[in-house]
Amino acid sequence: MPVQTAIIPAAGMGTRFLPASKSVPKELVTVVDRPVIQYAVEELVRAGITNICIVISEGKEAVTQHFAPNAKLEAILIEKAKHELLAEMQKLSNLADISSVNQDQPLGLGHAVWVAREHIGDDPFVVLLPDELLDPADNFIAEMIQTYQDTGSSVVAVDEVPHETIGSYGSIDPEPSDNDAMRVRALVEKPDPAVAPSDLALIGRYVLDPKVMQILEHTTPGAGGEIQLTDALEILAGEGRLMAQRYRGRRWDAGTKKGYLQATLALAFQHPELGGDFRSYLAGLGGPSTNA
Ligand code: G1P
Repeated sequence: MPVQTAIIPAAGMGTRFLPASKSVPKELVTVVDRPVIQYAVEELVRAGITNICIVISEGKEAVTQHFAPNAKLEAILIEKAKHELLAEMQKLSNLADISSVNQDQPLGLGHAVWVAREHIGDDPFVVLLPDELLDPADNFIAEMIQTYQDTGSSVVAVDEVPHETIGSYGSIDPEPSDNDAMRVRALVEKPDPAVAPSDLALIGRYVLDPKVMQILEHTTPGAGGEIQLTDALEILAGEGRLMAQRYRGRRWDAGTKKGYLQATLALAFQHPELGGDFRSYLAGLGGPSTNA
């Protein structure tokens, strides 16, 4: 069955990114030349997914407005004969079919996904957490969808993280495998590193069976007192119906100050127009000159 719909949870307050995220939603903070939310939507579009529901909270309407046509802006660009910019703005508003739904209370990621259940219906769907920025040169979601289609099981993306940081993530207990795709025996949200099943962390990309919505309806609060998507997926793992796929590309947590800076530098380096000048500039500052 083709996977055509996605949910992007973007209702959080961005406390790890204050003060930048006080009045500007963290999903609208710019990395090089576009806001974080645009990287998320472009990643989905690369995988052929154009039906996208963004879960927001009150005051974050600008996150979805970024993809809406802006007639006033377009009129000005026409008047000033800025044809390239006009085409770029039109492309942005035609990128995908974006809708939004409000999460009224911050009850957790599992709840945020469940709030978008009517958008999903009976089809498999992708969940993408926009803080986690994957290298835009990759198309990892397409690989995950392939695994979903090959196995008929839901798929979570994982990456090996330093052991001392595993407590900030969901951690999986994988079956031994020679492949990047492996079956998941169990998973746990934000484990104590001393008892984490592995250092393979969930990195915010999921291809899910619609049944997950029914499980979420009955999922009770877990780690941090929140309704956790990880806990709902534990049911699928127990039934032998959950796969993990290992991502081997570059990844940044753009929801933290350090990860944001790293993403900005790395993506500026590889930007087709800005990269050359930027590398020379950094070399002038005494920083690295090439190949970030
Ligand atoms: C969420 C998920 C967690 C995952 C993480 C990735 O946690 O619950 O399983 O590892 O995203 O960034 P959060 O960072 O929202 O607390």
